[in-house]
Amino acid sequence: MTAGPASSRLDVDLRVNGEPRRVPLGAAVTLLDLLRDQLGLTGAKRGCDRGECGACTVLIDGQPALSCLTLADGVDGREVVTIEGLARGDELHPMQRAFLAHDALQCGFCTPGQILAAVACVEAGAAGTDESIRQWMSGNLCRCAAHPQMLAAIRSIAAP
Ligand code: FES
Ligand code: FES
Repeated sequence: MTAGPASSRLDVDLRVNGEPRRVPLGAAVTLLDLLRDQLGLTGAKRGCDRGECGACTVLIDGQPALSCLTLADGVDGREVVTIEGLARGDELHPMQRAFLAHDALQCGFCTPGQILAAVACVEAGAAGTDESIRQWMSGNLCRCAAHPQMLAAIRSIAAP
């Protein structure tokens, strides 16, 4: 973290979706505030805002994290990936394609967090069985009840 010129406010230096960013802490208390309100990255959703729904899930240094419970100053020097950073130009990430192919979304509100949690699940080697996938994904709730389709999508990536 760096002190600003007047030393009256602090900046957070981090990488977001591969880009170095310096963000004045300002009113941002949480990483979710920082992403949505200061960087305009609205892919991470504010659902419950208290750690219960998973809609705000992002990756921090490759690990899924609830951005609504992560203090903004705690991400200084770290690598954050949001749903906006997953595709490569026009080419969707394989997990994004799998969600589409398996009809794994309805309203889409939970989808960014679900996809990032699913990417981390496969990368962690936790997608070996339906049970282990369910366990890994248990913190990401879907009010539209698309969980079976998400399971199928994750399975298709883990064992194509
Ligand atoms: Fe963060 Fe619900 S908005 S867990
Ligand atoms: Fe609607 Fe999950 S697709 S909340």
